[in-house]
Amino acid sequence: MTRKLEGKVALITGSGRGIGRSIALKLASEGARIVVNDLDTAPAQEAVQAIREAGGQAVACVGNVAAPDFAERFVGTAVSEFKGLDIIVNNAGYTWDNVVQKMTDEQWYAMIDVHLTAPFRILRAAQPVIRALGKAETEAGQRVMRKVVNISSMAGLFGNAGQTNYAAGKAGIVGMTQTLAKEWGRMNVTVNCVAYGLIKTRLTGNAAEGGTANIDGRDIKVGVNPDLMAAMERGIPLGRGGTPEEAAGAVYLLCVPESDYISGQTLVCSGGLTGF
Ligand SMILES: NC(=O)c1ccc[n+]([C@@H]2O[C@H](COP(=O)([O-])OP(=O)(O)OC[C@H]3O[C@@H](n4cnc5c(N)ncnc54)[C@H](O)[C@@H]3O)[C@@H](O)[C@H]2O)c1
Repeated sequence: MTRKLEGKVALITGSGRGIGRSIALKLASEGARIVVNDLDTAPAQEAVQAIREAGGQAVACVGNVAAPDFAERFVGTAVSEFKGLDIIVNNAGYTWDNVVQKMTDEQWYAMIDVHLTAPFRILRAAQPVIRALGKAETEAGQRVMRKVVNISSMAGLFGNAGQTNYAAGKAGIVGMTQTLAKEWGRMNVTVNCVAYGLIKTRLTGNAAEGGTANIDGRDIKVGVNPDLMAAMERGIPLGRGGTPEEAAGAVYLLCVPESDYISGQTLVCSGGLTGF
């Protein structure tokens, strides 16, 4: 049976853990060749290994998506390793919460950098490559569709107390998505967003366990208070947070040929939750 993404080249940021890792495994299982990225080397290499063990192809491009030189390196890896670029998923991210009166400039810019500036730079770096590939295909009488999926959050659509920085970044990516859908349609690229509600990953693990993520030399608390988590889950029509695999399914839908005429949209993947 022909796989849906046979031979496609997919770049996925933050794909060493959580939702990004599940997206990488899902797209690879349908035949895509994956450029895995993560800030942390070990999870990135583990994801590459998991894809290869399942019979797929993947390489790692380790690094912080917020680094000024990252985008060129990431796009360059796809071109040098796999000679193509078909799917970009801007997924890498984390939260660094505080009420607005206590939020530092450092917290503000960290969220804008990772959730907004990094996707902007990656898409800017990808444009000449996509344009050249598309031009050659058009001259050969072919139309090859390409896909961008940006990861947003319900916090970006509805706001969430304590997340001025994160919500602003996640709202900004919706505007970037709508704009690039208009700029890139002529290159046969669809640009869409997936906005998650509550997905069970390190980001939303048990905060009482005191987990931290070391991001750029800073130890940032991860997780959600268990009482708050239980209350949030009660408010979800499906009655539970989603799994990373379920989250990956939403991105997959926007990468397969059946979604070739859907662009500029935000798909909410939240178990039916329509607001906080
Ligand atoms: N889990 C949820 O409920 C939820 C809800 C809404 C949106 N999201 C979004 O989904 C995306 C994935 O989150 P997750 O829940 O899988 O989190 P996660 O912590 O499980 O995985 C995120 C991965 O991204 C990597 N990463 C973080 N910052 C990075 C950077 N600067 N450069 C490169 N890699 C980086 C981390 O090392 C980690 O491996 C994020 O953009 C997040 O904001 C998650």
